[in-house]
Amino acid sequence: MTANNPALPFAQRLLDWYDRHHRDLPWRVSPPMRARGVVADPYHVWLSEVMLQQTTVTAVKPYFAKFLTLWPKVTDLAEAPSDAVMAAWAGLGYYARARNLKKCAEAVASLHAGRFPDTEVGLRSLPGIGDYTAAAVAAIAFDRPAAVMDGNVERVISRYFAIGEPLPGSKAAMKAKVVEVTPQERPGDFAQGMMDLGATICTPKRPACALCPLKEDCLALRLDGDPERFPVKAVKKEKPVRRAAAFVALSPGGRIFLQRRPEKGLLGGMVQVPVTDFTSRRDGETSTGAAPFAADWQPRGTVVHVFTHFELRLDVYEAQTDEINHVDGWWEETSRLGEQALPSVMKKAIEAAISA
Ligand code: ADE
Repeated sequence: MTANNPALPFAQRLLDWYDRHHRDLPWRVSPPMRARGVVADPYHVWLSEVMLQQTTVTAVKPYFAKFLTLWPKVTDLAEAPSDAVMAAWAGLGYYARARNLKKCAEAVASLHAGRFPDTEVGLRSLPGIGDYTAAAVAAIAFDRPAAVMDGNVERVISRYFAIGEPLPGSKAAMKAKVVEVTPQERPGDFAQGMMDLGATICTPKRPACALCPLKEDCLALRLDGDPERFPVKAVKKEKPVRRAAAFVALSPGGRIFLQRRPEKGLLGGMVQVPVTDFTSRRDGETSTGAAPFAADWQPRGTVVHVFTHFELRLDVYEAQTDEINHVDGWWEETSRLGEQALPSVMKKAIEAAISA
């Protein structure tokens, strides 16, 4: 690095801090080992980055170890039965990521002779690898000066530069700043240092600014005096409220009447008790008059469930019956409800009816 490189003070301070305070993580090659020429295994780096999306380091560690025991090389993962990969992933959530993991391993095995591409662009072309993962693997496994930006990095950058524009609109400005401060030397350690700083010092609440290597020049601290205010987030719009009714029919023999929702649309293909449409009108019909069949319907309260685009207030009715004609569906033992693809909102409605 040259003396007039604007990245110098920021990157140098961050790297010095990382050398002394880096976390020891199973997929990581520590700075002293890096200095001795040990390089990270791209398979380990990729696997850990995919697992770490939306999950904590503590939660990921046992899964990472299990995957490497079962499938020590990316080519082993490529050949593994999908069911076994899904079963090993169970508990990490976001199952589409496990399916993409397998697809990516297959592509690396078949299209790249079992070796990960060593550039951001090459990595980005693989299935399931987005901008973040491509940059992270390029930097950490191949020491490419890629600008790696996750939630931790956004926090550090938005505070250091006191970026006042709210997220998500400010992402491009933040990325430009990450590009500006990323050094040509040791970009992999730099990226990991930024993540560690965000995770351990520059935390969302009560950041430990006194211990921060960047405190001299951090604008949020120096000028604003309130780093917690950053990153600034757009004020969330209140969600519209919709109303509907659910009809929980219970048979004297301990069974419950269920239906399958249409494949298309909200909660497509999942299982439900009979419900009215989730109307957008506050005065939609949600009384017993809307029931799909006659029975002695008793009110069992209202459950609230928040979907991405609206909040649903669902009035729950319950009836003891075993005569249902001309309505699609089936009777299920309540003891076997756990085996059904019941969305949370339906679980809440059934709970309200059964516990009443
Ligand atoms: N979070 C996501 N990726 C990480 C990494 N490589 N090191 C530490 N924390 C992370």
